[in-house]
Amino acid sequence: MISIMAAFARAAAPRQGEVFVRTLFGLLALVACTSVVEEPIPNVPPADWDASIRLVTPADKNPDPKVLEIDLEARITDVEVLPGTRTKMWTYNGGLPGPLIRARVGDTLVVHFKNSLPEPTTIHWHGLRVPAAMDGNGMETVPSGGTFEYRFTLPDAGTFWYHPHHHSAAQVGNGLYGPLVVDDPADPALGAESIVVLSDASIEDDGTLLPPTTGGPIADLFGREGGYLLVNGRIRPKLRARKGVPIRLRMINASRSRYYRMALEGHELIVVGGDGGLLQTPHREPEVMLVPGERIDVVIEPKTSGLLKWLPFERGFGTAFAREPEPILDLEVLDLPGATPPPIPARFKTIPRLDPTGAKTHKIELTQMTVDGKTKLGINGVSNTTTLRAMVGETNILEVVNTTDAHHPFHLHGFFFQVEGSTDWKDTLNIPMKETRKVVVKYDDRPGMWMFHCHILDHADLGMMGMLEVVRDPSAPPTHSAH
Ligand code: C2O
Ligand code: CU
Repeated sequence: MISIMAAFARAAAPRQGEVFVRTLFGLLALVACTSVVEEPIPNVPPADWDASIRLVTPADKNPDPKVLEIDLEARITDVEVLPGTRTKMWTYNGGLPGPLIRARVGDTLVVHFKNSLPEPTTIHWHGLRVPAAMDGNGMETVPSGGTFEYRFTLPDAGTFWYHPHHHSAAQVGNGLYGPLVVDDPADPALGAESIVVLSDASIEDDGTLLPPTTGGPIADLFGREGGYLLVNGRIRPKLRARKGVPIRLRMINASRSRYYRMALEGHELIVVGGDGGLLQTPHREPEVMLVPGERIDVVIEPKTSGLLKWLPFERGFGTAFAREPEPILDLEVLDLPGATPPPIPARFKTIPRLDPTGAKTHKIELTQMTVDGKTKLGINGVSNTTTLRAMVGETNILEVVNTTDAHHPFHLHGFFFQVEGSTDWKDTLNIPMKETRKVVVKYDDRPGMWMFHCHILDHADLGMMGMLEVVRDPSAPPTHSAH
């Protein structure tokens, strides 16, 4: 600073003394401000707090600030998952997970996709209300070596993700998944945040990827859980926080089958958001559960260092039998002075409740059957063939009846729903064994074929999948489903 002032003094002519003095005061004020900025009472975590899990963002090729235009390539890449070993993971742009796609509500996303995998694939934009032709739902695939341009606007703020919808248990299980976050500048600031993609890797101790059919038909029914828990592709990373200064974690369960029941030692989790962005009101929980496909947005008020743990959960077939809690990540809480940030608002917004009065009810039974001596899963007793029909503008109640002895996460493409009695927008909902959930959905003007299925992807591949055809004209002949 001294040398800058000296240089300034040399440059200033004598007759401009008054200007010089005024400018000097300005400069001193600037210096004072700068030192305030250099030594503030911090109300943010340390700068490197989430360096261990920070995600890459793809280059935006479009100068228009309202358009995010990126390249995405699905390809097999050598990745270090287990320290000291290499695994041939299936990746987007060579990373595990795929890059963080982040834009603002109302922006247009353009994705130049190239499939460099040895088999067909698609990209499904989980939770995004896109046109049916952009849904990447597996009815039309991108062949090996082929390309596709996805282009749509982002109508809702929230935490979403993308993954293939062809051989999805295998392709997602092999590593194809990535986060997508849509920001609304009008949403309240809730502290420094990190995107947390939870998954598990089905690999051997030498790093070899297990074949996706490992364990055979029993594993299909059980739902394959990889032996290594991953946070943004890392095993048990560490986050660093400043005592009392909140951090926000936007979590996505991108694992093919694993339920994430989680608790953070010494802390409550303040749930602020879910599948469809911020909730109406936040709530505090001692533990949370995130089923495959689901998202949760939590704020943590750091108190003492602790472990975020995966806790066993019996989702059927003895899935919790003889299992112990497992570490997900470490939170190191530094006892550094921190400013008290503004409290979390008691209410974020008012979400109108969908009115189900007079709405038609579709009953969707999740079923287990034996076909030709083989165990299959289905919807209403058949695999992949049930097609429901609805009209644009119509409100429906979907009555999802789980007749089986296992839990299933129900996911509907293309539209958010509200669980009866709640206003929070959801697209993925756990249906406990032998229980029923009613959800209310209203179809905006995006006609087409929309999938609904169990998001235990091994179950979806066993046939627990159906179609919802949304039409503009009720007299139109039914479109035949590709399944
Ligand atoms: Cu996350 Cu049908 O998908
Ligand atoms: Cu299932």
